[in-house]
Amino acid sequence: MQKPELVQKAIYAREYAYAPYSNYPVGAALLTASGKIYTGVNIENAAYPVTMCAERVAVFKAVSEGEREFEMIAVVTENGGSPCGSCRQVLAEYGLDTLVLIADCHGNLVEEMTVGELLPKAFTPKDLM
Ligand code: THU
Repeated sequence: MQKPELVQKAIYAREYAYAPYSNYPVGAALLTASGKIYTGVNIENAAYPVTMCAERVAVFKAVSEGEREFEMIAVVTENGGSPCGSCRQVLAEYGLDTLVLIADCHGNLVEEMTVGELLPKAFTPKDLM
């Protein structure tokens, strides 16, 4: 799986975003170590704080099917926006080396960083041992 392919999957997924309040659709595509891809979109709610981000939808879908190891995640927004703090924390739970591809809706790679770089000094499962 090449990076542009994963970005493309996130672009397609973004079509299904439910973002009637912000009008800021987000698409994500998560590649697992086993080679599977789980997509996610942001899902907003009339009760605004209940909204769930695209990255976390993708991670939760994967984890709910037994996946625990992630190679990379592509996140697509109109302008190449960066993953929020909550999504960084959720990704950090499964490893700081997961690569995060941040792209715009035309497929341009705006930034490429590891979860560890996006969330320095992350609180991880090791802290509880
Ligand atoms: N959003 C995401 O899906 N992922 C992020 O990392 C940042 C924000 C969504 C939440 C909300 O539906 C919209 O973008 C505007 O904040």
